[in-house]
Amino acid sequence: MSKIIVLVGSMRKGGNTDLLAKAFAKGAGKNNTVEIISVADYKVNPCIGCNSCFKREGNECFQNDDMSAIYGKLKNADILVIASPVYFYGISAQLKAVVDRLHTPMRNEFKIKKLGLILVGAAVLPELFDSIKMQYQLVLNFFHLEDAGMVLVRGAKDKGDVTESKALKEAYDLGLSMV
Ligand SMILES: Cc1cc2nc3c(=O)[nH]c(=O)nc-3n(C[C@H](O)[C@H](O)[C@H](O)COP(=O)(O)O)c2cc1C
Repeated sequence: MSKIIVLVGSMRKGGNTDLLAKAFAKGAGKNNTVEIISVADYKVNPCIGCNSCFKREGNECFQNDDMSAIYGKLKNADILVIASPVYFYGISAQLKAVVDRLHTPMRNEFKIKKLGLILVGAAVLPELFDSIKMQYQLVLNFFHLEDAGMVLVRGAKDKGDVTESKALKEAYDLGLSMV
């Protein structure tokens, strides 16, 4: 049994990323403890690159914002799943702000062993996820993390569009495969 955190990067509550994350959590929850953290519920400032987290106890950021709650939840996580809408071939800015703030604790504090990826975009282009997948692979390599798997959904623009494809089943199945 693993502790899994799903970081949802859409500000659109009940949107496609939310639906996919919930389907994943339903599957993963059969054999693990799962918590969804949505960026829409937290106010997290961007990293300012001061590097003071390198020296601080627990490697936490000096900024006094909602990131403290997220640090607390990630402390005991075994698997982290990044779920985001595609914004200009990247993850959302709100999610990137959270990810950047993990910079130092990810190396020193956390015991995360696996990363997973859930992405959704409106286009149906074959290359839609290439840049995010490249970044994801580089992060896996750098932090010596295992790939827990991914669900990549094209052609979903409006709220609820993911329900019209097999995407939710894929997300559920990925969740079920988590150990
Ligand atoms: C600022 C912004 C940028 C976007 N950029 C892309 C993009 O580069 N490629 C794409 O396929 N869809 C793009 N989209 C569409 C979203 O990825 C799509 O609507 C997705 O389903 C939204 O997920 P959500 O319902 O979880 O918010 C963009 C949407 C927004 C608001």
